[in-house]
Amino acid sequence: MSFTVKNNVHWVGKIDWELRKFHGDEYSTHKGSSYNSYLIKEDKVALIDTVWGPFAKEYVENLEQIIDLKKIDYIVACHSENDHSGALPELMRHIPQTPIYCTKNGAKILKGLYHQDWNFQIVKTGDTLSLGNKELTFVSAPMLHWPDSMFAYLSGDEILFSNDAFGQHYTSEFMFNDRVDQAELFQECIKYYANILTPFSPLVIKKINEVLSFNLPLDMICTSHGIIWRDNPAQIVEKYMEWANNYQENQITILYDTMWNSTRTMAEQIAAGIKEADSQIAVKLYNLAKTDKNDAITEVFKSKAILLGSSTINNGILVHVASLLEEMQGLKFKQKKAGAFGSYGWSGEAVKIMQERLEKSGFETIDQGLRMTWVPDEESKLACREYGKAFVAGL
Ligand code: FEO
Repeated sequence: MSFTVKNNVHWVGKIDWELRKFHGDEYSTHKGSSYNSYLIKEDKVALIDTVWGPFAKEYVENLEQIIDLKKIDYIVACHSENDHSGALPELMRHIPQTPIYCTKNGAKILKGLYHQDWNFQIVKTGDTLSLGNKELTFVSAPMLHWPDSMFAYLSGDEILFSNDAFGQHYTSEFMFNDRVDQAELFQECIKYYANILTPFSPLVIKKINEVLSFNLPLDMICTSHGIIWRDNPAQIVEKYMEWANNYQENQITILYDTMWNSTRTMAEQIAAGIKEADSQIAVKLYNLAKTDKNDAITEVFKSKAILLGSSTINNGILVHVASLLEEMQGLKFKQKKAGAFGSYGWSGEAVKIMQERLEKSGFETIDQGLRMTWVPDEESKLACREYGKAFVAGL
């Protein structure tokens, strides 16, 4: 499969309709994904990125239908991660001398992954590669999201090849942003940002400002996953600036795990209290044992405050809550407030543990949390609602 992106730029990647888990088990891909690779056929021919290893043979066979591989003058590896470099060994078996343009870190990582002494050509920001009438300009983008990441800009066609940045794990037979469901598209975009780019937000702002300072005309953004931005590509750049700037909506998310529904009852009563205090706040509840982890993180990303609930078990917290806390610690959320609650039988350490871990993860806890024994009675339910009201007042 291939299609024309613009003029002599062709998509030659792989749509992975079946993918449901990415990065091992780390990232859920409810709508599959694509590995986008681009072939630029100017006077000189350049191939931008490849696809994930399991599709290497299929990818190279497909490419051979489109071009004699020996006519590929340059390979550009914007990012070394396996989902974009995985087909390089198979491709390089056919064209072993073809130069691979990448950053210094890119060459180091590719050597570490594949142990091959390919013809690496190291590039940095501002370096160019002539394709005849048009040229590629490289912009290194370290830690967006790996140390090796870089963008490539094609003059004439005014296309930014951004690799992972501005991408989404999303599949469609219509590979352009103006042809797909906008709600689905932006949900996948924000999920991608929340789960992958959140810790790098200061770098996102810096890099976008740097690229904007070049005043390059921009007609398209060709990402390495999901759809291509051709209708107002600046819109996703603006979204990234918004998301990178400690984004939050008027939302409180309550995330909990529960053994015998007492902590669940507390969650629902606290939610009712919040709504009584402020009907404009969106309150969302998620039982973490039944919720996809990446979807939960996306809701945390959108929230101005979260409440975490867990029963106490063996002097600790329930495993799904622990897992979310571990994830959130790495993501380094900022300017979000938090609280903790939970039901217990005799020792009741969970709330204190959650409060401490929330603080360690950068959340500002605004009270001492709420603990209750056994099943909440009417008086306890009222106390939960009062806690919800007080939580809103403390924001
Ligand atoms: Fe799509 Fe960081 O690889």
